[in-house]
Amino acid sequence: MVVTRLGILARTFFIFIFIGLASLVSGVLSAQAATNDVSVRQCLSMDNGWSFHFGVPGDDEITIPTRYLQKSGYGFHGVDGNIQLPNDWAISLTPNPKALPWNAFAPLGPKFPTTSIGWYGRTFAIPAVAAGRRFWIEFDGVFRNSEVWVNGHYLGQHESGYTSFQYDITDLVNPGQKNDIVVRVDAMNTEGWWYEGAGIYRHVWLVETDPIAVAPNGVFVYTRFKNNIPQDQADVFAEVTVENKTEQDKNVIVRCSVLDPQSLQVAQISGNLYVPFDSDATVKLSTIVDKPGLWSPESPMLYTLVTDVESEEETTDRVVTPFGFRTIQFDPHKGFLLNGKPYLIKGVCLHQDTIGVGTAMPESIYAYHLKLLKNLGCNAIRCSHNMQAPEFLDLCDRMGFLVMAETRAFDSTPYALDQLRTLIVTDRNHPSIFIWSMGNEETASFTPLGGRVTRTMVDLAHQLDPTRLTTFASNSSQLKSTPNTHEKDKGYIGANSQVDVRGWNYHEAPQSEAYHAAHPDQPEIITEEGSGHATRGEYFPADNSGFDSSYHLATWWVYVATHPWMSGGFYWTGFDYRGEAKSWPNLWANYGIMDICGFPKDYYYYYKSLWVDTPVLHLMPHWNWPNMVGKNIPVRAYTNCDTVELFLNGQSLGKRSIDLTAAGSGSYGSWNVIYEPGKLSALGYKNGKLVADDVVETTSAPAALKLTVDRAAINADGSDTDVINVAVVDSQGRTVPTADNLITFNVSGVGRVMAVGNGDPTDHDSQTADHFKAFNGLAQLIVRSEQTPGSISVVAESPGLKPDQAVVQTLLCPLEPTVPAYKK
Ligand code: GAL
Repeated sequence: MVVTRLGILARTFFIFIFIGLASLVSGVLSAQAATNDVSVRQCLSMDNGWSFHFGVPGDDEITIPTRYLQKSGYGFHGVDGNIQLPNDWAISLTPNPKALPWNAFAPLGPKFPTTSIGWYGRTFAIPAVAAGRRFWIEFDGVFRNSEVWVNGHYLGQHESGYTSFQYDITDLVNPGQKNDIVVRVDAMNTEGWWYEGAGIYRHVWLVETDPIAVAPNGVFVYTRFKNNIPQDQADVFAEVTVENKTEQDKNVIVRCSVLDPQSLQVAQISGNLYVPFDSDATVKLSTIVDKPGLWSPESPMLYTLVTDVESEEETTDRVVTPFGFRTIQFDPHKGFLLNGKPYLIKGVCLHQDTIGVGTAMPESIYAYHLKLLKNLGCNAIRCSHNMQAPEFLDLCDRMGFLVMAETRAFDSTPYALDQLRTLIVTDRNHPSIFIWSMGNEETASFTPLGGRVTRTMVDLAHQLDPTRLTTFASNSSQLKSTPNTHEKDKGYIGANSQVDVRGWNYHEAPQSEAYHAAHPDQPEIITEEGSGHATRGEYFPADNSGFDSSYHLATWWVYVATHPWMSGGFYWTGFDYRGEAKSWPNLWANYGIMDICGFPKDYYYYYKSLWVDTPVLHLMPHWNWPNMVGKNIPVRAYTNCDTVELFLNGQSLGKRSIDLTAAGSGSYGSWNVIYEPGKLSALGYKNGKLVADDVVETTSAPAALKLTVDRAAINADGSDTDVINVAVVDSQGRTVPTADNLITFNVSGVGRVMAVGNGDPTDHDSQTADHFKAFNGLAQLIVRSEQTPGSISVVAESPGLKPDQAVVQTLLCPLEPTVPAYKK
């Protein structure tokens, strides 16, 4: 099945007709073709068939005398050809206590020269008929400091591990022959303080176009309502840059059609454009759409702009760009407004990694994570602290999440401005993105120099995108300690004074109040808060266990809920992520609302009770405490009910009125309960009416395994995945919350084990399929499809427990999320 790029030109999309590839590629090239309906543009996945080897210190890989030698496959001697991208080689290295805790003890860096540099290589065929066509190779993300050769020609170096980049290889490829590409990746250095992985961890694409074609990232589409208030008509603006790589000047026609969510054409515009040879030119077009449907997280309506380029009465290119109609506004008194109405940002910050695959996240796992966040009531994501994978933003557009997009390098140097430019030019068509963040917690941001740097960055952002404002994630404790800053200037110089929207990381109430009073015209948002740290299912961990207690709770939302001018905020973080480990053997911190597998922690329900309107009632802790009989256990009920009554084995332990105003719209009730085994239950009332209940019961011993499959069927495309959750249950089917049984999987049929995990940050063994334990009753398996339709059978076994089996169908018929909606 075809693996196609979901967005490549300015997050633009191509209309694909799948064709057999036999005529196009051969040999180890397993990329498959997708072409548009007028055969004008092809975008080939280059994900398959790579070979890999580590750079060997002392051999010529490290001491390459010059990058300009034309030597095919220079420095490359890998042969296996079985690496599939995205690939993060660091995730399969054994963590080393001498390595960096913030990088999850991955053996990368100068102390680990033999595992820090990797070479990737593969061949690809260009058909003879493609002579005269234009080719470029596009990398969505390589961590980091990559160098690329095609047929021995050195294309260049790209340092940032987070920004996408592309090279024009038209002159270098040999039509009708096999071509080779070699990529050297140097992960010696870090760019952040979290697990960053290593390798070609995002997709690679070979794009073929006519010599007269839309430039890379060459479509910018945006919409406007009069006075920024949604009404019956909206303007659509399209800026299209066309490149002419022929040897003559050309007059071309650029034609843009606007399609509604049902693919019906609702407007069309065209313009003439003179494009000198070997150059480019941009045309600015605009049209009006009547009664457009509005995009919002609750109703993510997507329109598409179909851009055709015509030269000498032939269509030479077609690019399809999803976009949305919506208004965004920040008001210093009302906070953020979406489509004209106050809209509270209920957000989470995310890094991007998951069990087993590290940073090489499959699109289907992004979709799984976003689905879990939807269920939580979350409506916004902050992409901390770097540019994101295109498919992640596509999913945010389609599933409905507002996005704060952030650049990694806070500076006004060419290096940093190039990152900011790439971020904005690549991602500005996404309706999900509502603000650009210029950076996070840089110390210099509080100085006059930081102010100058920010001014330059903000000016560039405004120039590239007239539709969105800017912010900076500013740490208020740094604000306190910044030297050389007069008391009265604290927070009033530097980055905060230059961005449009003041961003607060870990706001401190008196400072925020003072700042707000001094800046009545500057809107504000909490860019980061919480940093809760709880290990799922742990309540009274021993000091040296590496675990954090689930009683920990960050109650910052009270501030948001009681300060209407605050636009909402982003919790740190939605999921546990590798890195920022406190000490060996922990591989990660426990900041997530959900653990690294996506299993909810107790305070998941605290946030849910604040973020959804439906009744929520959740009791904690579990009720398996054989050593605590007769002792006191603190019990909490996270809820948005106004009254909760608690019962132990049928006896009422009292009602609690929940102080809803204290936390805005939800809080929790607490009791001290003398433990006895049995059933702890609660009833929740709203205005005297019973609306919710919850129960935790003392279970008996583990008796069986229970598998739950996320999706009954997945795509048979070799890259789609499914999540299979495993619970250790007792004879009555209740999850045993303390179970740590050893589990083995037998996966057969047309699928493979991709990853296993259990959420325990200290458990190095259970990250492979061989030695695999449940952690506090739960574990997870991720399977990946093959390119053959059929079924994947998973049998889970554990000594002494009843096994369970799950079956996943794999279909050739494309299913979400691999194939985007615009393909219809
Ligand atoms: C913040 C920082 C995040 C993360 C977090 C942990 O200050 O912006 O990247 O490190 O602390 O609490």
